[in-house]
Amino acid sequence: MHIIHRRGWEVSERQVTPEHVVLKRRSLLAAAGAMTILPALTAKADANSVPAFAPGRALTEEKYATTYNNYYEFGESKNIWRDAQALKQRPWTIKLDGMMAKPRTIDIDDLLKQVSTEERIYRHRCVEAWAMTVPWTGFPLSQLLKIAEPLSSAKYVVFETAQDKTMSGLNAPFYPWPYVEGVTIDEAANDLAFISTGLYGKPLPPQSGGPIRLTLPWKYGFKSAKAIVKITFTDKRPKTFWEEIGPSEYGFWANVNPAVAHPRWSQASERLLGSDERVPTQIFNGYAEQVAALYSDRKSEKLFM
Ligand code: MTE
Repeated sequence: MHIIHRRGWEVSERQVTPEHVVLKRRSLLAAAGAMTILPALTAKADANSVPAFAPGRALTEEKYATTYNNYYEFGESKNIWRDAQALKQRPWTIKLDGMMAKPRTIDIDDLLKQVSTEERIYRHRCVEAWAMTVPWTGFPLSQLLKIAEPLSSAKYVVFETAQDKTMSGLNAPFYPWPYVEGVTIDEAANDLAFISTGLYGKPLPPQSGGPIRLTLPWKYGFKSAKAIVKITFTDKRPKTFWEEIGPSEYGFWANVNPAVAHPRWSQASERLLGSDERVPTQIFNGYAEQVAALYSDRKSEKLFM
């Protein structure tokens, strides 16, 4: 018998997933298991053993999650998914550097051989007050920390993302490319912090950050950098892309909080992609139990912008 030891925030997949989506995903996962050519997909072909991470909300339909995107390298519109298909997903390498024993460049497929992939259904809340609930495939960021072996003096992990000739948005002079995001080592080691390489049981599509992106469900979506090409360990807090553009509106921490308004709009509620229903926003996007302790010594800082 397969016994699942659920962690505090896990619920049965059936509690969040419309049946037709589960059935479709089961056949996809089974097909992936038979082909064994897509390491980005979870090896767990039995959907009954797949844990879920998003209590109390229906899964967003795939067509909404993959056609309404923020990806400024491809432009300011939400409708960049067609253009993003031009971004080649292989070969893809990630440079690991900074305060670590052995700086090196790693091929994404070699990296995927060293981690165990799983599926997680997470809520995703954009700072613009829209939200979705989607099944990511990938591996905990903590596994990458183990592989990279940062020095104990490293305090932050910095993610830099691709600049490719297919990205017309890079020509916009205003933006401080490349897109850079960062978290503390403690945040990176938290069980929720995730590196995604798949979505809805398929390889992560380019518009969603393929082939590899960060997924930090308790923070506003802009922290979840897409198309990662470099990961740097440092003892200096990085100036992130959005902080550089608008320091009074977008900070380093960017934890979700309904009580702290954006200077130009309320964060009290969010619009669900697909249904357009408005629902109340939750502190830490509903993941306080897992992450609030990370910030207990930082109460004087601007944690929620
Ligand atoms: N990563 C890169 N490289 N470029 C971007 O413009 N936008 C961010 C984040 N990651 C962005 C990015 C923002 S603002 C959000 S809300 C999420 O990606 C959107 O992810 P989604 O399109 O998968 O919903």
